[in-house]
Amino acid sequence: MHMQATFVPILLIVLGLAFSSCQSTGETSSTPEAASAPDSVYLAKGQQIAASTFQSLSGQLQQAMKAGGVQEAVSVCQLAANPIVDSLSQVHQAEIRRTALRVRNPKNAANDAEQAILQDYQSALEEKTAPKPKLVDLGNGQVAFYAPIIAADLCLKCHGIVGETIQEQDYAHIQALYPEDQAIGFQAGDLRGIWSIRMANSTVSD
Ligand code: HEC
Repeated sequence: MHMQATFVPILLIVLGLAFSSCQSTGETSSTPEAASAPDSVYLAKGQQIAASTFQSLSGQLQQAMKAGGVQEAVSVCQLAANPIVDSLSQVHQAEIRRTALRVRNPKNAANDAEQAILQDYQSALEEKTAPKPKLVDLGNGQVAFYAPIIAADLCLKCHGIVGETIQEQDYAHIQALYPEDQAIGFQAGDLRGIWSIRMANSTVSD
């Protein structure tokens, strides 16, 4: 899969950076039970959640498209209805969301903070640099993890160009379900959106 081929090196680089910065700052903590987990822990957790979710969605999409074509697979790209996303949310006590500059479902529209991250990632890609996962302390006992979602070939059957990578009849079906759809016109390698994952900013217990 194309996506994994590009995603994995970025992931490794980021985890590498995160762990090396952890080693240089982690040694002075005197009360480990009371301290907040270091950023690297949340970055790693966020990466793990994003990668697992992405892998399970991609796998399910491929299967559904093979079995019943694009129209049958349309519901698979909803996170809300996905049992794997559900169990990941519970295991990690996380709120898992995706958003984008152009969304298909208006419920996925970006808030101001997400909008800013999306613009940063978009500029990074335009400048041919890899957009990096990012952690933000929300100050309310939660941390937000953001990471880019890059369009792969598989995605273009539903998010590509109508009449080219998306078949007209498939798009008619999508539009009937999502009359406000803006999530088309993407090419492989484009920023399709971001992960936006919220986790409790608590002591690490696992
Ligand atoms: C079979 C059609 C189909 C395929 C293939 C598909 N998607 Fe989607 N995608 C959808 C639908 C339908 C939605 C709206 C889901 C919802 O209601 O939340 C969506 C929503 C999204 C969203 C949430 C933001 C939004 O636009 O509402 C992202 C991000 C996304 N898709 C990325 C991808 C990526 C990345 C791939 C390839 C790995 C992909 N999609 C493949 C149909 C598809």
